[in-house]
Amino acid sequence: MNRRERLIARARQGFRAAYGADPTAFIAAPGRVNLIGEHVDYNDGFVLPCAIDRETIVALGPPAAAAGPPLFEAAALDMGFARDSFALDGPIAHGPGNWQNHVRGVVDALERGGHRVMPMRIAIAGDVPIGAGLSSSAAFGVAVALACSEYSVLNLSPETLARAAQAAENDFVGCACGIMDQMASAASTAGHALLLDCRTLAYRPVPIHPSLAITVIDTGLRRELTGSAFNQRRAECEAAARHYGVAALRDLDWAQLEQARGNLDDVHYARARHVVSELARVDPVAAALAGGDGQALAGLLAEAHRSLAQDFAVSLPPIDRLAALVAEALGTAGGARLTGAGFGGCVVAVADRTAGAAIDEAVARYNRDADLPAQAEIFEAGKGAAPIAFVG
Ligand code: GLA
Repeated sequence: MNRRERLIARARQGFRAAYGADPTAFIAAPGRVNLIGEHVDYNDGFVLPCAIDRETIVALGPPAAAAGPPLFEAAALDMGFARDSFALDGPIAHGPGNWQNHVRGVVDALERGGHRVMPMRIAIAGDVPIGAGLSSSAAFGVAVALACSEYSVLNLSPETLARAAQAAENDFVGCACGIMDQMASAASTAGHALLLDCRTLAYRPVPIHPSLAITVIDTGLRRELTGSAFNQRRAECEAAARHYGVAALRDLDWAQLEQARGNLDDVHYARARHVVSELARVDPVAAALAGGDGQALAGLLAEAHRSLAQDFAVSLPPIDRLAALVAEALGTAGGARLTGAGFGGCVVAVADRTAGAAIDEAVARYNRDADLPAQAEIFEAGKGAAPIAFVG
């Protein structure tokens, strides 16, 4: 059995154990790694994530035959097999914890959008590392949204699935995240990164040159997005946008950043500068990715890391050290930077496939004096959320 088959088998067994029946279908939604455009999605900017070959699987089937109000039932295999159920014939209340709120929030958002979700039962299992900055939450939310779409024959677009999963995070879980992760999970193309305009949701796949490998190095340092400095960063960006009189920091350019600074304090100025500089790197990284240009990636990703660490202040000293060691080992073969929201999580390296040994050596050096060992793994750029066509 391969990785996905094992995951499907787990979801199927979980469904049987929870409901005493076989599921009628399976759907999958991937996690993502972001290559460039960090903390710019909620500033209406451009991002370049790609889906990874780690995913959430939902096994689904019809509701219990029992009389009573129509229920939506869910079982989360990776949350100690916790169960949840809620009625669909009235307002949907918040649940007792995060995973329940992802499910309830998705169903609530779809219903509010005029999409009628039928009573159903789902069992959810995944292998996206949780809390690592690889968007296990977005994979979870998009998977639940697509399960609703499939079972209730709603034919929802990737954009609608992504918006519902984001609304669940924003309104039910309490994290003011942007739309990047959910769109990467919903709309990616295998072998490509996704160049996404977070203002319009227009997107296009950008090919990843076959000479390049995407290596994710997990520091093992974990963070909770909710209640972390994430919401604070977003508020700082919005305050900076108000200062400059723009709808979002995406609308600011270098000249305005300096000329209209006025009395803007150092912190807000630095946050705005990160967004402006990061947005200027998105197209060049997309070009370097498509062209297999390791040397360009080395420079661009080093600048991106510096900006995240210094201007946006979302790195940690061990992550700076790991990114620097990997960048040094790669030389002109590629680049490395912190990926995801920060405050822990992963470093991503985009580099020539022949540089694997250099990355491994850099990680081994880091691990010699790290409290937690980091682990490197190459991910293939997967495709976005989809029903699983045939399960034997
Ligand atoms: C988290 C959020 C995204 C995005 C990134 C930072 O993953 O969910 O919306 O803001 O952080 O780029």
